[in-house]
Amino acid sequence: MKNIGLFVGSLRRASYNKKIAQYLCRIAPEGFKYSIISIEDLPLYNQDFDDDGDVPKSYQDFRAQIAKLDGFIFITPEYNRSVPAVLKNALDVGSRPYGKNGWNGKPGAVISSTPGNLGAFGANHHLRQSLVFLNVLIMQQPEAYISNMKDIFDDEGNPSSTSSTDFFKQFVKAFAEWVNQVT
Ligand code: FNR
Repeated sequence: MKNIGLFVGSLRRASYNKKIAQYLCRIAPEGFKYSIISIEDLPLYNQDFDDDGDVPKSYQDFRAQIAKLDGFIFITPEYNRSVPAVLKNALDVGSRPYGKNGWNGKPGAVISSTPGNLGAFGANHHLRQSLVFLNVLIMQQPEAYISNMKDIFDDEGNPSSTSSTDFFKQFVKAFAEWVNQVT
């Protein structure tokens, strides 16, 4: 069984991105377990924590969780054409202390979404910029820029169209193939 961690770049109760993550957990392909990893209790990264050996328990737990994962899916809104701070903070916490980058060498994928029209492209690619440096092996295709999120899921949290269902199923299938290819 391969364990995939899902990281959502929104803390909002009714977050559209959380809906995507919750749905993906239900359609994980055979041989894969998807779990949402909480990032909301991580204090803003301060290098003093690591330098002084006074590391918050939430950091220790988060880093231990990442170490056990076989891959990552980042599901994010766009804030001001970039990655929400809460998700960037989680990337930073997981990348340290220096020399112990927990993301290193594992496969990953990015999904960006917005109730607007531009698919949160800016967030998607700013995130990819950091993930390249962190040596996450990012799936290139299919890309996932999801617009008009108000219309994508029904009240039960399932995609309201066949084309959306097909897209998400194709995405997790492609990611399973990618993970198997690179690990
Ligand atoms: C936004 N939103 C937004 N949307 C977008 O498509 N491009 C953007 O640059 C921004 N910028 C932005 C900044 C800030 C500070 C907020 C709070 C919001 C709107 C955003 O897509 C919308 O609030 C989504 O619903 C956020 O995702 P969740 O919380 O539904 O997952």
